[in-house]
Amino acid sequence: DMKKVKVAVTGAAGQIAYSLLFRIASGELFGLDTKVTLNLIEIEPAMKALEGVAMELDDCAFPLLESMELSSDLKTGFDGINWALLIGSVPRKAGMERRDLLSVNGGIFKPQGEAIARYAASDVRVFVVGNPCNTNALIARKNADGVPEDRFFAMTRLDQNRAMTQLAKKSGVAVDNVSNMAIWGNHSSTQFPDFENARIGGEPAEKVIGDRAWLEGEFISTVQKRGAAIIDARGSSSAASAANAIVDSVRSIFTPTKDGDWVSLAVCSKGEYGVPEGLQFGFPVVSDGNSVRVVEGLSHDDFARQAIAKTTEELTGERSEVVELIS
Ligand code: NAI
Repeated sequence: DMKKVKVAVTGAAGQIAYSLLFRIASGELFGLDTKVTLNLIEIEPAMKALEGVAMELDDCAFPLLESMELSSDLKTGFDGINWALLIGSVPRKAGMERRDLLSVNGGIFKPQGEAIARYAASDVRVFVVGNPCNTNALIARKNADGVPEDRFFAMTRLDQNRAMTQLAKKSGVAVDNVSNMAIWGNHSSTQFPDFENARIGGEPAEKVIGDRAWLEGEFISTVQKRGAAIIDARGSSSAASAANAIVDSVRSIFTPTKDGDWVSLAVCSKGEYGVPEGLQFGFPVVSDGNSVRVVEGLSHDDFARQAIAKTTEELTGERSEVVELIS
């Protein structure tokens, strides 16, 4: 018997969605035993482009793609959905303060949170990609009355994957030898890619690499600035790798985590590691196939503690900028 899943994607005519939708419709995300309905959501001016994307999805004749619904209306878009992948947002433009960015996005994620609470299926999970993704997830969560807070996630997986590759290259091993890579805090340049707890071939990464200065310096800055490096090289921002990280993230939520490993996701803090309760914070997490929990008991030295304090401070600041949207 085939399973069924109904997935809403916002920003569906954007460049990340153009890499993602075909992987969902082919069965790569939810598996070959699951039929997919795609609710593709865009703003009015992008509806024509969205129709083009839908035509291409049609032209793939994917056997698992049961139906598509294209709309700019949130009631239609979120009706009965099991997953909301919130990719659409308004990126920062020249001259825009972070504060403006947050309030513009508040205008998007508040109504989306409300509509998800009203119209989505009772098992809905919400995965936020559109930046600033941690605080956008916080806004959606705070406006989704009745949806448990542990159903909301923001994406730090692209940073995790970037960090794993940097460690693999530096140590001259294949990337599948790297494990336990956590991204702490905000998906921004203050994130902390936690090399202290990462492992290479099961050994502490620090021991294998033997170059603490590189880890503290070039490694962290390469991961933090990778988005800008991609824009510089490609002329547009990471899209295929972001879509790939969405596939990895969503699968990591509904698939039990490999024994001894963890994955990076930004979840609602319950105060773990002293992070203020309610922040949408990047942590190492494990899934039992149904829900995720933060991995506790990891230790950090002063360097890591300071880095985590800095990203915590940034997220606390973002939260205070949007306080009128979440109270
Ligand atoms: P894009 O500009 O190509 O596409 C965004 C789409 O969202 C556009 O088609 C736009 O019309 C749509 N949109 C805007 N407001 C909307 C709304 N209210 N409802 C529905 N759709 C709406 O951008 P791209 O490259 O696809 O990136 C999307 C977002 O993902 C950006 O905010 C980007 O910063 C973020 N991002 C996050 C990453 C992460 O690791 N968390 C990684 C890469 C990108």
